Amino acid sequence: MASPLSADPAPELPLAPTALVLLVGVSGSGKSTFAARWFAPTQVLSSDAMRAMVADDPNDQSATDAAFELLHTTASLRLARGRLTVVDATNVERWARGRLLALARRFGRPASAVVLDLPVEVALERNAARADRRLPPAAIRRQQRWLRESIPSLPGEGFTPVWVLTSAEEVDAVRVVVAART
Ligand code: UTP
Ligand code: MG
Repeated sequence: MASPLSADPAPELPLAPTALVLLVGVSGSGKSTFAARWFAPTQVLSSDAMRAMVADDPNDQSATDAAFELLHTTASLRLARGRLTVVDATNVERWARGRLLALARRFGRPASAVVLDLPVEVALERNAARADRRLPPAAIRRQQRWLRESIPSLPGEGFTPVWVLTSAEEVDAVRVVVAART
């Protein structure tokens, strides 16, 4: 089951130290901000950083296939070693999540999801104020529709746990806790 966190004022968000963690959210939902706050830079594989690595431009959409090839390869190498691996991409498409789930399964690692399910207006406002990249609002609304379809199916796809954060306040309040290695 997806876990609503709103009842607890300072909820913990526990993750396994060997997990593959998907951040899930539309552009502007705050995935990269969340990743930078809670994880070491080496733990975060971002599709934008991979585009930049292969094309010198994080916004070069023509580099998307190469970027994900690099992301999947790097994720595999990390998961083989049992290193916590956070995927900072929208992950609102089931097939994209499926490819990542297959990697976690191949290496016997848990796959978890942290969903930034903020009101779409928040993402649209942030998008409009962004200096680095601005998507057409229609693209964000389309991602939002895919997100809405995705949320109920995440546990059935194999993600556990699934944490769903539904407001900026909730995102600010949670504390990510990575369990100690045994
Ligand atoms: P992010 O750049 O973190 O969003 O924040 P994202 O989900 O990773 O977006 P994509 O998918 O890569 O496009 C988007 C904007 O919102 C601001 C950030 O500073 C950035 O300009 N932001 C983020 C806030 O103002 N508050 C937050 O709590 C999070
Ligand atoms: Mg980002």
